[in-house]
Amino acid sequence: MASKKPLIVKLGGSVITDKKRPFTIRKRELARLSRELSGSRYPLIVVHGGGSFGHPVAAKYQLEQGYKHPAQRIGITLTRLAMNRLNTAVVYSLYSAGLPAVSIQPSACMTLDNGKIKTANLSPIKKMLKLEMVPVLYGDVVFDEMRGVGILSGDQLVSYLARRLAARRVIVGVDVNGVYTSNPKLDKNARLLPLITPSTWKELSFGFDEKTKDVTGGMGYKIEELLKLAKAGIESEIVNALKPGTIHQLVTGKKGLGTIIRGK
Ligand code: IPE
Repeated sequence: MASKKPLIVKLGGSVITDKKRPFTIRKRELARLSRELSGSRYPLIVVHGGGSFGHPVAAKYQLEQGYKHPAQRIGITLTRLAMNRLNTAVVYSLYSAGLPAVSIQPSACMTLDNGKIKTANLSPIKKMLKLEMVPVLYGDVVFDEMRGVGILSGDQLVSYLARRLAARRVIVGVDVNGVYTSNPKLDKNARLLPLITPSTWKELSFGFDEKTKDVTGGMGYKIEELLKLAKAGIESEIVNALKPGTIHQLVTGKKGLGTIIRGK
């Protein structure tokens, strides 16, 4: 192994699930990505999103707005169940590709305050990394000091874990080639950005208030989280995980296949 510093890979919900069909896993993509990840040269932490499992349930019960009404409690249970189902499928798929993956439930070891991670017990993750196991975390419904409950996105999670665990790099796998000047699904003149820094982002962020159904926000939010990381000196890259071979190249040391987010 080249270095003990972990590489954190996020598999977006739009990559591993079909966002148009409730509770549908893209099984072949997940199996392929698991095989690609199994070739990693570095210790891995995998984080996955909610896709068509967590988001619709969390949105139905308005969990992103905090705890307002007792009827939301069953929604918390249902969101947790949905995320558990997806997470079990991800862990099983990683295992099938030969990786010693073990699930870590964020809501059991973390709390939020006003939407931001406040406490986190990372000792089990650190111990797993020592044994060269692969911790698998995910966007989750997490209890919140101020709001009662909130949604912890996989993006906030990777940014937090990368800082606390001094990650070597972060890879965020999505269903487009990286970050564009505008939404490439709506605008054919959209241009791919190979690099984003805090100063270039200031000029660009205007185009990123697109409405998505996600309870945790779209690409703009993702970039804001990754820029925090960039300021702490950890580079990340947003890439198209649906393009076969991309994740494999990144976990074996390649760079520059999508949009790199750096401090300078
Ligand atoms: C959301 O996680 C988790 C829940 C809604 C419970 P993410 O925000 O990381 O999910 P994706 O990647 O956008 O689907």
